[in-house]
Amino acid sequence: MKAIVIGTGTIGMAVKAALRDHGHEVVTVGRQSGDFSADIRETDSLTRLFETVGPFDAVANAAGDVFPGPLAETSDEQWENSIRSKGMGQINLVRAALPFIADRGAFALVSGVLTDEFTAAPTIGTTVNHMVEGFVKAAAVELPRGIRINCISPTVLAESVAYHPFFPGFVPIPAAEVALAYVRALSNPFTGRVLKLYKTDC
Ligand SMILES: NC(=O)c1ccc[n+]([C@@H]2O[C@H](COP(=O)([O-])OP(=O)(O)OC[C@H]3O[C@@H](n4cnc5c(N)ncnc54)[C@H](OP(=O)(O)O)[C@@H]3O)[C@@H](O)[C@H]2O)c1
Repeated sequence: MKAIVIGTGTIGMAVKAALRDHGHEVVTVGRQSGDFSADIRETDSLTRLFETVGPFDAVANAAGDVFPGPLAETSDEQWENSIRSKGMGQINLVRAALPFIADRGAFALVSGVLTDEFTAAPTIGTTVNHMVEGFVKAAAVELPRGIRINCISPTVLAESVAYHPFFPGFVPIPAAEVALAYVRALSNPFTGRVLKLYKTDC
């Protein structure tokens, strides 16, 4: 399988390594990093990417920003930028890739633990994660040609130590484990699932 990994940060690099370990060809994408350049906020840039990169079977997204902040202090700009980046950015990358991805191809998007756990100032992150997960569940029903889509929802990463003070009592997960969830989502025949890399019953 040839996979496009978008995002060359902590999760993206771990996904690249895991896919290669499983024998897959990987190209990486960032705004200012990776084998190819694209910005998920700009649909034209995504279309250019998928036209340029050649035939591919999978897209793993590990990019998209949300802005943390106490609800009463959040600005219109923070809401708009978060929806435009992690929300519409991921939706538009699926829409832009659809004419190009192979039959029975697969997408893996990213949300996060804030979907279910409300830590300090989570509201923008929680809202955008629900947008992404809702899109994944509904799009799975509609996607043509046997194309699948799933969402990876990690808790805070072990490597993201700057975030740890905002997740007191949460057990961080290594990026390598998150990367295996991407491999699982892209390699197996299920679709429309959110792979939650945290416990919700305790
Ligand atoms: N870290 C965590 O604890 C954690 C936990 C749960 C969920 N998540 C989610 O997982 C995703 C990745 O997290 P991470 O920690 O791996 O992030 P990261 O280390 O900050 O890396 C993000 C990568 O995405 C690229 N990127 C950012 N905005 C982009 C855009 N608009 N278009 C294209 N590329 C873009 C950046 O490269 P360029 O600068 O070159 O564009 C960067 O390489 C985020 O959506 C985050 O919310 C993270």
